[in-house]
Amino acid sequence: MTSSIVTMLEEKREAARLGGGQKRVDTQHGKGKLTARERLTVLLDEHSFEEWDMFVEHRCTDFGMADMTIPGDGVVTGYGTIHGRPVFVFSQDFTVLGGSLSETHAAKIVKVMDQAMKSGIPVIGLNDSGGARIQEGVASLGGYAEVFQRNVDASGVVPQISVIMGPCAGGAVYSPAMTDFIFMVEGSSYMYVTGPDVVKTVTHEEVSHDDLGGALTHTRKSGVAHKAYRDDIAALMGVRALMSYLPQSSAEKPPSLPPLDPIDRQAPALDRIIPANPNQPYDMKHIISHLIDEDTFFEIHPDYAANIITGFARMGGQTVAIIANQPMVLAGCLDINASRKAARFVRFADAFNIPLVTLVDVPGFMPGTTQENGGIISHGAKLLFAYAEATVPKLTLITRKAYGGAYDVMSSKHLRGDVNYAWPTAEIAVMGPEGAARIIFRADSHDPEKLKERSDEYREKFANPFVAAKRGYIDDIIMPHNSRFRLIRALNMLKNKTSRQPMRKHDNLPL
Ligand code: HXC
Repeated sequence: MTSSIVTMLEEKREAARLGGGQKRVDTQHGKGKLTARERLTVLLDEHSFEEWDMFVEHRCTDFGMADMTIPGDGVVTGYGTIHGRPVFVFSQDFTVLGGSLSETHAAKIVKVMDQAMKSGIPVIGLNDSGGARIQEGVASLGGYAEVFQRNVDASGVVPQISVIMGPCAGGAVYSPAMTDFIFMVEGSSYMYVTGPDVVKTVTHEEVSHDDLGGALTHTRKSGVAHKAYRDDIAALMGVRALMSYLPQSSAEKPPSLPPLDPIDRQAPALDRIIPANPNQPYDMKHIISHLIDEDTFFEIHPDYAANIITGFARMGGQTVAIIANQPMVLAGCLDINASRKAARFVRFADAFNIPLVTLVDVPGFMPGTTQENGGIISHGAKLLFAYAEATVPKLTLITRKAYGGAYDVMSSKHLRGDVNYAWPTAEIAVMGPEGAARIIFRADSHDPEKLKERSDEYREKFANPFVAAKRGYIDDIIMPHNSRFRLIRALNMLKNKTSRQPMRKHDNLPL
């Protein structure tokens, strides 16, 4: 080994670590952002990072690029561990040509994605980039498409997580969009197909970066992103928390921890949670917190379509995916956004062997022209499709209303729910008693007294779980205070569930 090579090695490593130089690093810090390498230090277990391709340089010579080579070419790639389990990572370095994606920058990302798929290891991308490297033209566009293809190939094989930590514009947003979860940082990250300047030219609209594609826009309005965090560190810690629930790949079961919370813990408060008046809301999150292991709820999409709650939790130490109607918001109706949100979540959980625990209090699909014109039929069908095709263990608990098509959709027995329970307060019917009486006893509908009589008659018949239980659509009517124990027992019973599907190329989900 000659000492000059070792010196050169050290110099090159030093140049790569410096990225775009101290001035640009200071600018990055000035915006409240960490650098690409600092981010990896926060994300990964201490001293676990193994860097790959530190010496890769771009090959472009146009527009003076021959003099602008920086080892690593604007993206730090490799693998490390989170909670002791390996993950592949790429972290774009905005200080190097704005983190823009060149042919070689893309090749580095593709390399870790290919290896992740072969090894059954998740991929986490930290995005902070001005998009396609403008000097390289079509070579960088080709690079993007190579990444897109890997996103699709890896979908359902290994978990893919994107954190948006700076600009993300143009076609570049489509790589994160195809990953499983997108986290954003408030105030410093943006995602849009075209920025405010192009918007102004084309539509004459004036809009800020934040309103067009900031973290709050995408976590509250568009639903493109799943969670917003106040800064880089919080977002990266959020990824670490999420990873603790997920398996490494579709070939594995999710990690199970020794349960710290007794599985037979009773929850007497649940016996009083359903209000006497069926139209009065209550907070489904209270029910969730009593059923799951203490403080283990990791909500996905907390600020979007809050009429349905989705998130990971642990029950008896096992990861579960919770899907629950929220009576506090729009009475827990299923609308377009709630159906899309829950359908994607159910499909993720099914792809990665995570049991579904569905809590039902749903008065039906949201009626009205806005919903119909927006295609509630197709969007609602996505959720129906997702539940029907899911083969993981499916547990369902009806707490109150399960009306109409929404009863069928929300993991009913008929969609091969494995264990379907109801509380004594459950009402399982085609619709609410008044609506039903107005239709089937139309002649009496103008007389309030008769209408009440007819509604009471309908309520008497259907506003209980017995009609469904008599047919075996409900396996048992269970007491609220004992529900945690009953659900965990059912989960344990289903640990080795298998399900065979007929061969086909793929299904045709109503997109
Ligand atoms: C090459 C780029 C670059 C790019 C930024 N830089 N974007 N270099 N290609 N796409 C460089 C700048 O020249 C600058 O270099 C440094 O990065 C920082 O950029 P600034 O503009 O000074 O930073 P800031 O003011 O923070 O603005 C960031 C920005 C802006 C909003 C991202 O740079 C910008 O609008 N860039 C262009 C975005 C864009 O249109 N990209 C193409 C999208 S289309 P120096 O040397 O001064 O530090 C696309 C197609 C993908 O991506 C298609 C896939 C299908």
